[in-house]
Amino acid sequence: MIEVSTSLLSLKNGEESITILGLEKAKTDYIHIDVMDGKFVEKNTYQRMLGYSSYVKRITNLPLDVHLMVENIEEAIEDFVPYDPNIITFHFEACKDKEEVMKYIYKIKENHCRVGLSVKPETNIEDIYEFLPYVHICLVMTVEPGKGGQTFLSDMVEKVSKLKQYIDKNKIEIDIEVDGGINLKTADNVKEAGANVLVSGTAILMAKDYKEIIDEYRNNQ
Ligand code: DX5
Ligand code: ZN
Repeated sequence: MIEVSTSLLSLKNGEESITILGLEKAKTDYIHIDVMDGKFVEKNTYQRMLGYSSYVKRITNLPLDVHLMVENIEEAIEDFVPYDPNIITFHFEACKDKEEVMKYIYKIKENHCRVGLSVKPETNIEDIYEFLPYVHICLVMTVEPGKGGQTFLSDMVEKVSKLKQYIDKNKIEIDIEVDGGINLKTADNVKEAGANVLVSGTAILMAKDYKEIIDEYRNNQ
């Protein structure tokens, strides 16, 4: 079953409530919160995303899918846990060794959130196989993390299918989430390859009818 996680990164000032309430009405499965610290990636959205997290929790029942693009993962987990996120995802590339990866996996679980582990486009998917039995979601970046509205990197489709084959062969029950440049054209390729959670920001926020595009994403061709 395909789930849709709508990213608020491209949300315009002053349009917060109409957009978030519209997304709730359109039945997005999650609100995707793109946390950037200005170090792991160039942009800094940290305070804005804290504000969105608080707002989404106050005016909707939508689950939060928090995507940490930060160096200080420990601090970010502590900052976002108060908003009771359903998912906290961190980047493999922000960890200095496997002990650190495991430390954050346990920390997120101790805070009763599902754990996501994300890989940038240039990271080999094999590098994170050993962690998959311990996480709930693998977030495969289909753009270079750091900004919305980028073009989908089509060679990531192969990476998604490789991951899907691996988890099926090893009977590992995790969700495969894809993030970046997802629209009605690129969604079919990644769904066919095995992705079952689609992050989409620009394509949804620019749509006239949120429900129409979200329903279209869920259509299993
Ligand atoms: C990029 C973020 C993505 C991005 C998706 O670093 O992780 O979530 O906002 O936005 P679109 O769908 O506009 O590519
Ligand atoms: Zn994201």
